[in-house]
Amino acid sequence: MANIQDKIADLLKEVETSDINSLDQLEEFRIQFLGSKNILKPLFADLKSVPNKDKKLVGQQINSLKQAAQERFDQVKVSLEETGETKEKIDFSRPGEPKEIGARHPISIVRNEIISIFERIGYGVSEGPEVEDDWHNFSALNFPPEHPARDMQDTFFVEKGEREMALRTHTSSVQVRVMENNKPPIRTISPGRVYRNEAISARAHCFFHQVEGLFIDKDVSFADLKQTLLYFAQEMFGDKAKIRLRPSYFPFTEPSAEVDVSCTICNGDGCNVCKYTGWLEILGCGMVDPNVLTSAGIDPEEYSGFAFGMGIERIAQLKYRVNDLRLYSENDVRFLKQFKSAF
Ligand code: DAH
Repeated sequence: MANIQDKIADLLKEVETSDINSLDQLEEFRIQFLGSKNILKPLFADLKSVPNKDKKLVGQQINSLKQAAQERFDQVKVSLEETGETKEKIDFSRPGEPKEIGARHPISIVRNEIISIFERIGYGVSEGPEVEDDWHNFSALNFPPEHPARDMQDTFFVEKGEREMALRTHTSSVQVRVMENNKPPIRTISPGRVYRNEAISARAHCFFHQVEGLFIDKDVSFADLKQTLLYFAQEMFGDKAKIRLRPSYFPFTEPSAEVDVSCTICNGDGCNVCKYTGWLEILGCGMVDPNVLTSAGIDPEEYSGFAFGMGIERIAQLKYRVNDLRLYSENDVRFLKQFKSAF
């Protein structure tokens, strides 16, 4: 009995006074007092030979010893951490490893620039979901069921619970959401990612980015649309940029047009980028079809508006002369770090 209590007292003293000045010493301490083969374990064996009446007392003494060891360990650990002892020892004479500074992705740069151009003429920014229902991606945009125009865009369908949904094929879905949730006047652009079921090549990808524009008010005319797009083209590509509109078809606009900008390489003289036409296609647009206004709860007798949609990769391609779409999503740092911009 006295014997075991002496041992406990000795060990307690050791726990309290042993030198621990480094992480290595702390680890030794841990193995000695708290590890799986720690030196307190034999005490529990010795406890068996202690007379029954003293067992409780001696048991408690062993437990307090264990607790003291744990407390010392915790406390020294904290103080070593505070003094930085746990940090790796640093060799200040080693040569540095410079960290590369990141650059904004070209798609982000162009998106931000488009946003900034339209913000200057009073447009706000709105966003919508990438997993979209049929109503917002198609029906409300005047694509009737089974209408062949739905095939203009190869759609990825997905199931969400019981419902069949689609990955949005264009950001035009966001104009519906904005019209449903806001009263005119509306002036908004909606940047975002879109998806199409296409084989990936230099000229097509299964996802890319678009910016949708929407302007709804009283007496909005086609001339307003044209002037807005000319402003955009000149801000984006320089004062000399010209635009031309060619008649086109989209279910959600009437009339519809495709817009070309004068070639950013040859200024319209003709080169291999514009295939000697002097023009490059940049976006689709038109006057919002009255059916679309009605679907979204806006009275076409009272309001009219225009919409347009452009591909961000396409604008980036013209701005940076990068004509392989795959480069934008491969995350090759050698490619990405070339783009410096204020946006
Ligand atoms: N949603 C069309 C597309 O993805 C682009 C577009 C064309 C948007 C005309 C418009 C528009 O808002 O008026 O090809």
